[in-house]
Order: sequence, then structure tokens, then C-alpha cells
Amino acid sequence: MNSETPRRAGAIGVHSVHRFVFSVPDLEEARRFYTAFGLEPRQVGERLDLYTAGHPHCWGSVHAGDAPKRLEYLSYGIHAEDVSAFRDRIDRHSLGCAAHPLSDGAGLWLRNPDGTPLQLVVAPKVSPSAKSRPAARPSPAPGQGAAPARSQVRMVRPRALSHLLFFTADVPRMLRFCTEILGLRLSDRSQDIIAFLHGAHGSDHHLVAFAKSHAPGLHHSSWTVASIDEVGSGAEQMRAAGFDRGWGLGRHVLGSNYFHYVRDPWGSFAEYSFDIDFIAHDVDWPVADHAPEDSLYVWGPAVPEDFITNHEQPHAKETT
Ligand SMILES: [Fe+2]
Repeated sequence: MNSETPRRAGAIGVHSVHRFVFSVPDLEEARRFYTAFGLEPRQVGERLDLYTAGHPHCWGSVHAGDAPKRLEYLSYGIHAEDVSAFRDRIDRHSLGCAAHPLSDGAGLWLRNPDGTPLQLVVAPKVSPSAKSRPAARPSPAPGQGAAPARSQVRMVRPRALSHLLFFTADVPRMLRFCTEILGLRLSDRSQDIIAFLHGAHGSDHHLVAFAKSHAPGLHHSSWTVASIDEVGSGAEQMRAAGFDRGWGLGRHVLGSNYFHYVRDPWGSFAEYSFDIDFIAHDVDWPVADHAPEDSLYVWGPAVPEDFITNHEQPHAKETT
């Protein structure tokens, strides 16, 4: 472990989302969507790897599949000195499973309560270890406006993956698994409808979150941008590319971030996020159970009707 990498004393827990892996029917459509979003998709054999500009880490991989869209597996980063403790936990709870066939087979493998394969892999901590800094705002000369000309707005390029939100049929069961097996920590929740979890060794307010649905699925990936202007400009950028459905601009209550969600070609979302709360490795975040009306957003447009539709399992009735 890098001596600079913070860790919570005595805690065995995943430190980052290392990679999320899903399949869609048409990789070309994925390339178009994520390129317009400002990511840098790279073709590697038969898959697309998702990078952010100027960052060496691969945050996600997209494969071609036959389902409308399917979460294949999720990979978490762990510290090398925690491998045997995690192996013991997996064995003690009989959670082990075979490596996913689309993976590199490395690390430890287990299933979460929804049956999704998880990979625990020794890797550098790529979740933030400090609050993400906003871009410096140039101070205009006297007599000059602060806003740039519309024609001068530069393409928005997210800096890093912030978090993922998944659907699950049983939020409390998933919450128990995430805290007891993965060592994640609860940040905030709203009844049994949604739960937000952060990494024990310091991360954004949520590294992962789970929302109630009839079945598992990936609701959105969230990407950190440098300013609230970039959240708004990102929305414009996607509208210009033909991706005009979504939700935003708004501000969340839990996590506090400014958001704009863009609906992807498969009915789920990619989020531009700015100024999310950060929870350091040595901070005990005061967990609270928030009323539903106080948990989603402070301000913003009305929530679109299809915002919480689970398109990975579209045939059953929504329960949310
Ligand atoms: Fe989000």
C-alpha cells in the first residue's frame, strides 16, 4: 500500500469501485454515447474500455451482449494486506463463485445477494482521498463579463467515476451484505427505498447506492466534473449530440451534489456530478434515515416518470 493512501484503523473494507462491467446490444452505440459524454472509450479486443481524460485508470468495460442491457459484474479495489481477511469472510459465509467469463479471472470472487458476481482485486485506490477541487474560476477584468461566449465553451470531460447506483429487490439485505462482507459504511438512507454507502478508507458520500426495484440492475454511473458550469455545459453537449432526455440541472440532498442525468440508449443514465460530499477515512458520518420527500433533491425540474424504471428487467411491474 502506498504510504500516502489513507486507511481507517482496524477496518477491512473495499476502498474503490475498480471497474463496472456491463453488456449492451450495440457497442457502436455505446462508443457514440460515452464519447459525446466526454469519456474516452478505447476498443480492446471485443470490448470498449471507459477512461476519463488524463487519468490512467479504466473505470468500466462494455461488452456486446444479447440482452437490452445487463450488468455483468462489478470489481472492487482492495488493499493487498486485506486479501486473506476477505478470503476468510467469503469462505465463512460460503459466498465464493467462479470468475466471470468476461473477466481477467484475477482476485477473489463472490456473489452478492442478488446473484451479481463481484471481483475483489488488489489495486491502487482510485476513489478520492480528499474532496474534489473545483476548477479555478478566472476573475474577469473590470468591465468584462464572467461567463464565456457560448461559442467558446470547451467540451466537458469528466475527471473520474464518482459512484454507481444499482437496483435491488431488497435494500436492507443488500445493505447488510455491503457492510458485513465488503466493509462499506452506510452514509444515509431513506427507509427501505434507497441506501448510500461510502468506502471505509475515504470516498465520496457514496461509492455505491441501492434503490428498490423488482429486480437487480444498473441505474446510473456518475462522473465527477470540475464545476456547476460543467454540469450545465455537459447537458448542452449531450443535447447537441441527440441525447436530450434526462433529469437536471438540480441539487441532491443526500450527497449534496449538483447533477444532470443523461438517459443512455438503453434507458439507464450517466450523471454529471459536481461538489459531492466527501467522507474521510477518519470521519464517522452521522447516519440518518431521511423521509422520502427530503432524500432526493433540493431543487431542480420535476423527476421524469421513467427515472426509476429498471430497463434490465423490463417485464415485471415496478415496485418503486
Ligand atoms: Fe448519482
